[in-house]
Amino acid sequence: MTDVRPVADWASDFDVLAQEYVNDPFSVWDRLRGECPVAHTDRRGSTWLPTTYRDVVDLAHDIDHFSSIDIIVIPFEGEPPEEPVLLYGIPPISADPPLHTSTRRMILPWFSHRKVDSYEEMTRALCARLVDEFVETGRADAAADYAQQIPVRVIAHILGVPAEMADTFTGWVRAVLEFADDMEGRREAFEGLVTFFIEEIEKRKVTPGDDLLSELLHGELDGQPVEDSLVLGVAALVLIAGVDTTWSAIGSSLWHLATHPEDAKTLASDPEAMPLAIEELLRAYSPVTMARMVTQDVEFQGCPMKAGDKVLMNFPAANRDPEAFDDPDQVILDRAQNRHVAFGSGIHRCAGSNLARMEMRVAIEEWLKRIPDFRIEEGAEVTWAGGQVRGPRNLPVVFP
Ligand code: HEM
Repeated sequence: MTDVRPVADWASDFDVLAQEYVNDPFSVWDRLRGECPVAHTDRRGSTWLPTTYRDVVDLAHDIDHFSSIDIIVIPFEGEPPEEPVLLYGIPPISADPPLHTSTRRMILPWFSHRKVDSYEEMTRALCARLVDEFVETGRADAAADYAQQIPVRVIAHILGVPAEMADTFTGWVRAVLEFADDMEGRREAFEGLVTFFIEEIEKRKVTPGDDLLSELLHGELDGQPVEDSLVLGVAALVLIAGVDTTWSAIGSSLWHLATHPEDAKTLASDPEAMPLAIEELLRAYSPVTMARMVTQDVEFQGCPMKAGDKVLMNFPAANRDPEAFDDPDQVILDRAQNRHVAFGSGIHRCAGSNLARMEMRVAIEEWLKRIPDFRIEEGAEVTWAGGQVRGPRNLPVVFP
């Protein structure tokens, strides 16, 4: 059963699914940094929550004590789903070296600057088409009608799977990452996703295409053909990692611009401001928290971590640490010093960061080109998802 007790003490009993935390994690981290920078909870198993930049980066680099074999923030209740086909999990994100190293190498070329440039035209056309659908009405849900519709179609294009299935893909990814306390829904989504990719792999054995899935299947790993279960795991990861994350980052950026019209004005009138602004929006509204599993008993910052405990890689809190950033709660679009860790740190640093940045830039540019001045609709409710990936799920806006 999901633990729904209210949180009495954030230092010893934090709950990342508490509505208070989903709506405003920032003030919780501020309090914890002062009182107890590495918090703990026994909800959903013994779990630690670091809140400073230094600690998060140190933990990410200590791969001997903190393994990626279990990166799920909200664990499955009871037995994990039986997935003998996913023999290798979803590498590279769920693997330690050496499997991590070889599988990361397999996918990196698909997210190089050159490759990402080649996806820009289709991304721009997609964004413009989406804006066409609501621009005349004077209102839109910037999260559901726009941000949510973009990354899933770009990833479908890269994997070579039908863009018409975008809603199904989104449903699977949300069930796995977002509706994490609906265990049955999560199990079904995982099964749907795996069955789908098994069928797609079989099709490509007969007729290979010019897509990531075909290349994985017909490629080599350390001089050997790539096993089907490895192709399956990597493809599932690309879908899971590439959808919720970027849509949340685009959605949070649009939320910021809707609530800070002076920043929208700056970006609409000065395209040169965009690259630094994207980094700042990533820092301030970092969507992704990952987990690690403690491999052997270790003391970290005075905390007695036991083998099997979880540690949440709180990249979003690291990015709001006043020791690392001046005025961390202020969005300063042209912030010059910005070594944010929204994409992680160390060997698992995001493999899709070039793609994510391109999608964010193009999505914001195409929106501002047609809708430079917009606000949250009066009386409307903005809803946020939390847990592993934080971002707005409903963002009703109006524009003249
Ligand atoms: C704004 C959007 C995104 C954010 C904030 C983000 C964030 C992250 C973070 C924090 C990690 C590190 C995980 C860890 O340390 O355990 C990561 C890893 C990863 N991301 Fe992203 N990501 C984004 C978009 C994407 C996209 C578009 C893709 C494309 C498929 C992608 C693919 C990956 C992969 C494959 C890994 C695993 C890398 C490894 O384990 O070596 N991400 N991402």
